[in-house]
Amino acid sequence: MTEDVPPRLAGHPDRIRWNAKYAGGAGPAFVPHPLAARALALAPPDGPVLDLACGPSGAALLAAGQGRRVTAVDVSDTALGLLDAEARRRGVRGLLTLVHADLGEWAADGPGGFALVLCTGFWDRPVFGPAARAAGPGGVLAWEAFTIAARTVRPGLPAGWCLAPGEPASLLPPGFTVLGEEDVPDERHGAKRRLLARRAGHGGHDRNGEHGPA
Ligand SMILES: C[S@@+](CC[C@H](N)C(=O)[O-])C[C@H]1O[C@@H](n2cnc3c(N)ncnc32)[C@H](O)[C@@H]1O
Repeated sequence: MTEDVPPRLAGHPDRIRWNAKYAGGAGPAFVPHPLAARALALAPPDGPVLDLACGPSGAALLAAGQGRRVTAVDVSDTALGLLDAEARRRGVRGLLTLVHADLGEWAADGPGGFALVLCTGFWDRPVFGPAARAAGPGGVLAWEAFTIAARTVRPGLPAGWCLAPGEPASLLPPGFTVLGEEDVPDERHGAKRRLLARRAGHGGHDRNGEHGPA
């Protein structure tokens, strides 16, 4: 992926930090995040996937390998370049739309366009609601982020990057049903929480015929 870096991203601290990290690493393994694999196994409705803060995403490649179109968004052009190259190698590049953006400023084109909205390894509270609304009827939302407990082993982790108790389920817009919520302790890297939720289908019913929360 070669593009001119938009001026407002050029000096973006997250871009600089993550570009350095990806450029200095041993190279990504492109292993799909387990939450992404679980979400895709839930058989979301036909339709595209939105992978937020995708990094060099094995999840995007897994979804594309299943024939889904994927919009993958990240502030790191290095990550997107790695994903671009691997998608070409696997012959699925045509299914990917790579978006170089700060999620604090980016929004999907209108709500409800995606069968699966995925975000792992990123938290910014104002991003969550609009991201959830990008899931269409019957669509799945899958999110993983550090919890505030992670600050006990990583005191430098800004509180704003961490889920407060009850989040992100407490922030779900109306019409979502929580399918699963799981705390993932990690004494080395910091505790995380995973959420799987589904938006009600057409008519306000979920796939089991039950109404979602009001
Ligand atoms: C921990 S990595 C997670 C990558 C991938 N989702 C995964 O689970 O392996 C965090 C990702 O968030 C991206 N990121 C950080 N701040 C961002 C921002 N403001 N807007 C968009 N992406 C951002 C980084 O570039 C990085 O790829």
